[in-house]
Amino acid sequence: MRPALGPGAAARGGGGAAARDKESPRAPLRCRPPAVATVQVEDDRLRVTRWDFAPGAETGFHRHGWLYVVVPLHDGTLHIEFPDGTHATAELKAGVAYSRPAGVEHNVVNGGAAPLSFVETEVKAWPG
Ligand code: NI
Repeated sequence: MRPALGPGAAARGGGGAAARDKESPRAPLRCRPPAVATVQVEDDRLRVTRWDFAPGAETGFHRHGWLYVVVPLHDGTLHIEFPDGTHATAELKAGVAYSRPAGVEHNVVNGGAAPLSFVETEVKAWPG
């Protein structure tokens, strides 16, 4: 089962940059492979999931019910789609963490040509 939660849309605290672009056309309809989620730790207070993305792989749209922290394992580029049709690009740096609050909704796609992985820690103590 795929966890309901995925990576953040933009880096915080120097982890990268994101810029929404309302003018660009929507991506054409296409079939993307799913990112692979592996839950490594879960208890009543947190869940730690490793996400592995082939080039072009996506999480699928999801809403984050908890605050979360992402630690990229590689440098890479995420393409992020939002429910209102806008999208953004976020540059990931290996080992540079970022966090996002509960309530974020998005679909996250590996926008690069190489595989991309990160570890996401969701904190159940801070639901949105
Ligand atoms: Ni997400």
